[in-house]
Amino acid sequence: SGQGPGWLERPCTLERPDPLTERMIMALHLGDTAPDFTTQTSQGEVSFHDWAGDNWVVLFSHPADFTPVCTTELGRVGQLKDEWAKRGVKPIALSVDSVEDHAKWKGDIEEFSACSVDFPIIADPDKSVAISYDMIHPGEGDTSSVRSVFVIDPAKKIRLSMTYPKSTGRNFDEILRTVDALQEADRGECATPVDWKPGDRIIVPPTVSTADARAKFDDVQEVYPYLRTAVIRGDAAGKGAVACD
Ligand code: BEZ
Repeated sequence: SGQGPGWLERPCTLERPDPLTERMIMALHLGDTAPDFTTQTSQGEVSFHDWAGDNWVVLFSHPADFTPVCTTELGRVGQLKDEWAKRGVKPIALSVDSVEDHAKWKGDIEEFSACSVDFPIIADPDKSVAISYDMIHPGEGDTSSVRSVFVIDPAKKIRLSMTYPKSTGRNFDEILRTVDALQEADRGECATPVDWKPGDRIIVPPTVSTADARAKFDDVQEVYPYLRTAVIRGDAAGKGAVACD
């Protein structure tokens, strides 16, 4: 027919029809302002931006209450309470079920994980929050939310997002690591390499010359002209080499 594959012909637009309402909605991208909303949660009404205040936020969705993978995930988030607090992060969960269901389910999560669930769980039975964050993927079996994660900074910008299918529980240690990496990148105006952890050497961004890097960072090492590692000035010498061995 001479026609190329469909994806080449699709117009490049930020707007798309919502799968449930068919209203045109914007796709969310890194750097966008996180949509604000006011909604009921397991801790009462929350106006999202006001609730977030000057904190970082990890907003994460799951498919439904009283489901096994979700129970393990929410329990883990509760167990990590001190880790969120250390980083100035407020976690908030979402499922499309009701406040009444959340209240009943919370007891199971707390018993299972031996911790308290003291972060809010958004009740979203009309799916308005899930739709605004594109958390519903109809190809994933039904119209409940999938396992989306949004890391949102104190300026309310979306800094990182990930999407897991319903069958795969997330790794919240990795989510904490991404918060560490984002906060380090902001603090040091730098990047971080594969598997970076706090205390490891950072990466000099490609936009900074090696001469400028030497003026700004400690112990700049040039592996290739485009791959330079360093230590943020004033920090203890970074322990990790670039971990591609
Ligand atoms: C779960 O959380 O266990 C789950 C939810 C929906 C589909 C599959 C698993």
